[in-house]
Amino acid sequence: MSSLLPLHAVDMSHAYGDKMVLSGVDLLANPGEPVGVVGENGVGKSTLLRLVAGIEEADSGLVRRPSDLGYLAQEMVAPPAATVAAVLAEALAPLHDAVRRLEQLAHELDEPGAADAYAATLLWAQTHDAWDADRRALLASQQLGVSHIDASRTVGELSGGERTRLALAAVITRRPECVVLDEPTNHLDDDAIAFLENFLRELPGVVIVASHDRVFLDRVCAVIVDLDEGHFGVDGQGGNRYTGGFTTYLEHKAAARRRWEAAFAEQQDDLAALRVAARTTARQVAHNRPPRDGDKYIYNFKGGNVQATIRRRVRDAEQRIAVMERRPIPKPPEKLSLSHPLTTEDRTGGGLVVSLRDVSVPERLRLNRLDISAGQHLLVTGPNGSGKSTLLQVVSGRVQPASGLVRVSARRIGLLPQEVNFVGPDRTPTQVYDDALPAGAIPLSHLGLLPPRELSRPVGVLSIGQQRRLALAILVAGRPDLLLLDEPTNHISLTLASELEEALGRSPGTVMVASHDRWLRRRWGGQVLHLAVH
Ligand SMILES: Nc1ncnc2c1ncn2[C@@H]1O[C@H](COP(=O)(O)OP(=O)(O)OP(=O)(O)O)[C@@H](O)[C@H]1O
Ligand SMILES: [Mg+2]
Repeated sequence: MSSLLPLHAVDMSHAYGDKMVLSGVDLLANPGEPVGVVGENGVGKSTLLRLVAGIEEADSGLVRRPSDLGYLAQEMVAPPAATVAAVLAEALAPLHDAVRRLEQLAHELDEPGAADAYAATLLWAQTHDAWDADRRALLASQQLGVSHIDASRTVGELSGGERTRLALAAVITRRPECVVLDEPTNHLDDDAIAFLENFLRELPGVVIVASHDRVFLDRVCAVIVDLDEGHFGVDGQGGNRYTGGFTTYLEHKAAARRRWEAAFAEQQDDLAALRVAARTTARQVAHNRPPRDGDKYIYNFKGGNVQATIRRRVRDAEQRIAVMERRPIPKPPEKLSLSHPLTTEDRTGGGLVVSLRDVSVPERLRLNRLDISAGQHLLVTGPNGSGKSTLLQVVSGRVQPASGLVRVSARRIGLLPQEVNFVGPDRTPTQVYDDALPAGAIPLSHLGLLPPRELSRPVGVLSIGQQRRLALAILVAGRPDLLLLDEPTNHISLTLASELEEALGRSPGTVMVASHDRWLRRRWGGQVLHLAVH
């Protein structure tokens, strides 16, 4: 629809305290061309989205955005006492208003200005598909697992996942001209993700999503904007905007990184060779003995030429060094890399590590039988509400079932919960880590999970993915022999997710992973337990 406007952000820069997060970033999102914003944890994706959505003001830069914009935060902050019903009603209100107003204007078409008002309202109603709003609201609530939440509950009482799904249902219902979503798939099951993907693909307006979900990015996005320093095209100053799918983008990015490393290494070699050449040649000039009287004629004729040639060579080498130093190829940034095994070997002498019989947690989980033997890796799947997290909590001992038998015979159980919250947001990651572990544990800086510059910042200001990396660090440093991971790929970058997957494959201990991540599930080599909604 031609009335739809692009979103254009130019030269965005933003710092938190003395930390420069974004510097000179541009973002163009055209209607009908969904843009995926990607990059390592903490690179500034959420910050950029808040700036373009107008949630926060940038230090500098300009944003032109459609005024009708829907924004979904990475973790929703609960509004004061709004109920679930009120949130959905608020999303529907402008659409109902538009339909009512159209009917009213249709009866007043003879009055001055009414025809224009009618045309404008009609266009708005068409763009927002206002006549379909009630059906959309119902469908979104059902597909996103919101319809079974008691509508009189307040948003503050909901879990983080439920809050996100409710907010998403509201955005889908309202169908704004511009949608800005920060990691929308983290709390969704397969059906919900498919529903969201279809909605975004069919939306005529502007779509901007930050995500680490590879399958989702592939299915939805037409353009990828990478905030990493090592983005595609960095070697040829090609910018960070790529038109095309995410998987092909990743291939281009990997190739660009290889070219960058090669170009950097070549320049370093050239510089080293030129410096040696300049030094040794210069020494030749200095060491050239002064001419003796009898030599004068021949020296002037021959030696003078030699000296001049040597000086020219030195000058030439120095000039080439100066040119290279004026345009140095920057060193490719070190990549973070998980460098610690995830589990220790089970020493209970084989046998069953986990054994459950007729376990029931009312409204949350029912399971007749589960046996996991030492060293076994089990993936737990199932739709929203099927009890994946509850199962992990039962096994970890955090939740006692109302009935049934639970036997767990691990020496050290490590649980990564779905939502991570650290008490004391002013403490640094190093303090949090050291407090959580016994003396003598491997230092946090050795794990390759957080960059050194983040280790002394308050943990409360780290990005959500970085906080999750810290939780993972504490977990693996505790050397569990039974590892329980609840949605481990949520919020963490694709690089770490792949490393985690590989590390899991090598882990000698017993592992249970609850995940809805389609990419992880497709590649899972171990056993699978599928939970159904009870
Ligand atoms: N309110 C804040 N105060 C101080 N620093 C902040 C604040 N919000 C974000 N930051 C910092 O800005 C950087 C970027 O954070 P941001 O949340 O934008 O990253 P991200 O790319 O979305 O990461 P993730 O993949 O983990 O979601 C991080 O280093 C973070 O610590
Ligand atoms: Mg983020």
